Amino acid sequence: MAQIKLQNIAHSYNPNSVDSKYALKPFDMTWVDGGRYAILGPSGCGKSTMLNIMSGIVKPSEGRLLFDGVDVTDETTSDRNIAQVFQFPVIYGTMTVHDNLAFPLVCRGYDKSFIESKVNEVAEALSLEGLLSQSARKLTADQKQLISLGRGLVRDNVAAILMDEPLTVIDPDLKFRLRRKLKEINQKYQSTLIYVTHDQNEAMTFAENIIVMDDGEIVQVGSPAELFDRPRTTFVGYFIGAPAMNLFECDVVDSNSIKFGSEKISTETDLKSVNGENIKLGIRAEYVQLMKSSAKNTVQAKVESVDDWGNHKLISANFEGNIIKVKVKREVEVPAENVYLRFPTNNCCIYENEILVP
Ligand SMILES: Nc1ncnc2c1ncn2[C@@H]1O[C@H](COP(=O)(O)OP(=O)(O)OP(=O)(O)O)[C@@H](O)[C@H]1O
Ligand SMILES: [Mg+2]
Repeated sequence: MAQIKLQNIAHSYNPNSVDSKYALKPFDMTWVDGGRYAILGPSGCGKSTMLNIMSGIVKPSEGRLLFDGVDVTDETTSDRNIAQVFQFPVIYGTMTVHDNLAFPLVCRGYDKSFIESKVNEVAEALSLEGLLSQSARKLTADQKQLISLGRGLVRDNVAAILMDEPLTVIDPDLKFRLRRKLKEINQKYQSTLIYVTHDQNEAMTFAENIIVMDDGEIVQVGSPAELFDRPRTTFVGYFIGAPAMNLFECDVVDSNSIKFGSEKISTETDLKSVNGENIKLGIRAEYVQLMKSSAKNTVQAKVESVDDWGNHKLISANFEGNIIKVKVKREVEVPAENVYLRFPTNNCCIYENEILVP
């Protein structure tokens, strides 16, 4: 295992062309040894490029990579000692499941008894014990991907295990169990796991730290709770959470309050340094409170719809043309017409030019 440092890394797939564009804009990032990370972002934002730079499949057009302080930028993938698992299975069809799992260790000359114990351990972790003697060719897509995963996990001395949407071909129930397994493996072996996905649930349930990317940039690095409570940009607020964060245009009134429509709303954010252009109020549907009557930081809105999501209800209410989404427990009675909605001061995030005012 190793600490992985990306120093001033940037990448363009066509650096010499006149219309050269960064697939990854310049950034610095340190991956802590033993950490469990997810890289999350929409299609084309640069997730695979970032992963492939770490493994050595892509050589960055700018910057250096350090593994435990040693510069590996010019080293090959195999010299970097990285395990990588891809979206679609990479296995040897002519070999048995056992030999597929053993292959990364056989190649590196480990002794037979060690190989047997590791293959059995990984097969057990992924529930492949019953298939070890079968030919890999005959397996289902699910099972083939499990073997790919197993081949990534069988070496426990790698610098990191990089996974690029590895569970795409796997059915949802097994997916859930495998994510739990990967978490256990990370805790047991302290292996650095980096998991690429565009599915926020997958990222939120798997990782301690999530790297949110948009258009070639890292927009936030944080725990699932941090991304939920204090999204650093309106993009993160919108991309994370279901529904997306409520975001409303507003104006600054004084150092700790804003004007939202005709209402004054207080926040805990210090607005002294904010100059008042393009200001937005962000609040999660989960944090808006349904009140019986008017109170401080409350707006009166008209209910437009109530959707039953099974475990909760989602209210859409109109306040002076703004649609406010509110999540309440299933058993809460929602008035048919008018509701009072309170915005707790500590849950009000203020954005200036789409960036969170700290
Ligand atoms: N080999 C390549 N040559 C030229 N451009 C590329 C190449 N690979 C990726 N790109 C471009 O670089 C940008 C980032 O691509 P990347 O594959 O890293 O995104 P991603 O976040 O992994 O997307 P997805 O979720 O669809 O897998 C995109 O604009 C993509 O079109
Ligand atoms: Mg990709």
